[in-house]
Amino acid sequence: MPKLLLSENWEGWSAFHKLLLFLFNFLAPFLKEADLQLASHDLYHGSLQLLLILLHDFPEFLSEYYFGLCDAIPPCCIQLRNIILSMFPMSIILPDPHLCNIKFDLIPEMGPIPPILSDFASGLKSADLCNNLNQYLLNRGTPSFLTTLKDRLRLPSVPESSTKSYNLSLINSLVMYIGVSSVAQAKARSGLSVFVASNPGVVAL
Ligand SMILES: *[C@@H]1O[C@H](CO)[C@@H](O)[C@H](O)[C@H]1NC(C)=O
Repeated sequence: MPKLLLSENWEGWSAFHKLLLFLFNFLAPFLKEADLQLASHDLYHGSLQLLLILLHDFPEFLSEYYFGLCDAIPPCCIQLRNIILSMFPMSIILPDPHLCNIKFDLIPEMGPIPPILSDFASGLKSADLCNNLNQYLLNRGTPSFLTTLKDRLRLPSVPESSTKSYNLSLINSLVMYIGVSSVAQAKARSGLSVFVASNPGVVAL
């Protein structure tokens, strides 16, 4: 693990991320059922410890790959996901959220766009959504796009009434993709990554 994570120019990070994804994909069916036998229980605990080591020594790795990792961990595994979601790079000093009158958009740390190394757009390409979505985000889409979007996120062959009738991974990819493209577009247009309520991406979300 240190060899991959301490490699020059972070060359080993992508390989280590893949290995972690294999681990979580293997564990996911056991965790979803919350049915941990001795072996899967040990593996779960080992994974938890591994994340705690990463949290301590490589927070940048966890924060830059959080998207892919959280996507692979079932939503019911709150502890595993919280470890990853609480990560932030060592170079950032978090503001005290209990301070009164704090204006979050004026905090310098809110400015830089955080690096996201997971390939969050790949899910959209396989769903053939990307082209239509890009057109829509550039204000060139067809008016019907937004109304059909919701149905495109449904899982095939799951009844509409089921609480699990949507493809969560696809929704996560879509939200991330819209967010990243909208910020990039706003920055290209005005030089600022400001929130514009009429931006097609904001409307879609
Ligand atoms: C959800 O969408 C992703 C990306 O398009 C796809 O790879 C995955 O198979 C879908 N999941 C289900 C359960 O259909």
